[in-house]
Amino acid sequence: MKLNIKSLATFLFLYLIDACALVPETSNIADGGFKLKEIEDLHIKRSDFPPGFLFGAASSSYQVEGAYLEDGKSLSNWDVFCHSVGCGENGENGDIADDHYHLFLTDIDRIHSLGVKAYRFSISWSRILPRGKFGEVNAAGIMFYNKIIDNLILKGIEPFVTIHHYDFPQELEDRYGSWLNSEMQEDFVHLAEICFKNFGDRVKYWTTINEPSLFTSYAYMWGVYPPSHCSEPFGNCLAGNSDVEPLFVMRNMLLAHGKAAKLYHQIYQPKQGGSIGIVVNCMRFVPLTDSELDIEAAKRAFVLQVGWVLDPLIYGDYPAEGLKYLGSEVPRFSMEEKNIIKNSIDFIGINHYTTIYAKDCTNSTCSPTAKRAIQGFVETTPYRDGVLIGECTGIEGFSVVPRGMEEIVNQIKTRYKNKPMFITENGYSSPDVHETRVNVMLNDVKRVKYHSEYLTFLAKSIREGADVRGYFVWSLMDNYEWLSGYGVRFGLYYVDHETQKRIPKLSARWYKNFLVNNTDLINMKAYA
Ligand code: BGC
Repeated sequence: MKLNIKSLATFLFLYLIDACALVPETSNIADGGFKLKEIEDLHIKRSDFPPGFLFGAASSSYQVEGAYLEDGKSLSNWDVFCHSVGCGENGENGDIADDHYHLFLTDIDRIHSLGVKAYRFSISWSRILPRGKFGEVNAAGIMFYNKIIDNLILKGIEPFVTIHHYDFPQELEDRYGSWLNSEMQEDFVHLAEICFKNFGDRVKYWTTINEPSLFTSYAYMWGVYPPSHCSEPFGNCLAGNSDVEPLFVMRNMLLAHGKAAKLYHQIYQPKQGGSIGIVVNCMRFVPLTDSELDIEAAKRAFVLQVGWVLDPLIYGDYPAEGLKYLGSEVPRFSMEEKNIIKNSIDFIGINHYTTIYAKDCTNSTCSPTAKRAIQGFVETTPYRDGVLIGECTGIEGFSVVPRGMEEIVNQIKTRYKNKPMFITENGYSSPDVHETRVNVMLNDVKRVKYHSEYLTFLAKSIREGADVRGYFVWSLMDNYEWLSGYGVRFGLYYVDHETQKRIPKLSARWYKNFLVNNTDLINMKAYA
């Protein structure tokens, strides 16, 4: 089966629809609860954030590195998956991606020229441990990341490292079924320890796993990410059980995180002095109507996406509101395991892009997938009465709703007693890039607006007391966008994948002005 972003729309766990394609030209778009004038009046500036606030840009290994079989790297799950089913719209894959493996030095110059103080990137597991715990450490892989870290530090940029961002050695899948097997916990801890030992003298910010909720549902419920496990009505895969497997995978991920974090807290943190967290995909859910049922549905969606990961890592167990729906299906934690995972994060990494409406499915007509316990009996839609919640972007259901940033931060702040937070991803992809001319892509006014507006609401939440300590733009440069291949671009830098030439977009110049010259939106108009 060929997967692309259009066909993915029918699979998405949130039952999303292709927002841009369905918007009639004359249709209304909700203002997301604010007026543009309000935003312009706020004139967001660097100085609206605390002086030590860490502004950065982000990427991940499979999406940028390329060099998929060089210098001892083994095949990862994504290499094998994309070679077999063909991932992007044109069967694209990450074999070369942005060739960052060879171009990292000039890329670091670009990061530096943005004026950011941090760079979030991830480690390719199969580059440093090609056979996981069944083989040796690959010295060339360690050297690669050492060079990145050293060069970042030379330029005064904090390395903010994600240990695992979806990609791992295929051997772990073939040997024992990767995340479905508890053996993966030990393999992950082994990887984490290699990272702490080799890089921890210089890396002060670690996140263990990127977006466990998204990964478990895409890989084991919808079956659209490797290893393509699912069952009806979610999809038609060769193997899997969509109602149960995501729960087992999540449990293994949480325990893997807990064990790695414990090791860090006990052995490495005392001498290295850094901190460790996890990154959670955090959509904002708002009730479709003001009925009690929809209000509850929106809360449930949040609890199953965010609370299912963070409650165990902060309070030691799954949230009661989620257990109520999933009940006997859920593999529980023993007392000993609860002690491992409880209080295992120093900070919360928030990936926030969009807001969506949530509708209750316990009583009303919904799609068959939304009526499943694993989905919390919730259906989501970006439309209310035919009106889109915010302007559409290059990804279905990712509407632009800036106030969602303030709301999600406040929601997490309240539930987790204002634990330190970093916005580890926030970004805009333009619709229809395939047909778009390069100079139009470079003049990315909408991306500039997106970041200014989301930052405005982030600053507001900080003023109201939220302990947010950093913000990373997704992404440093256009890259390999998973099932959408190279057709969806999030970068501050445009990348020509034929020549590997990088060109700063308007948004890169805006970010630099914002960071270095403290400029506001009004000055930006000079560029428009
Ligand atoms: C992922 C990134 C991805 C981005 C945009 C996040 O969920 O962490 O890898 O590129 O969303 O889709």
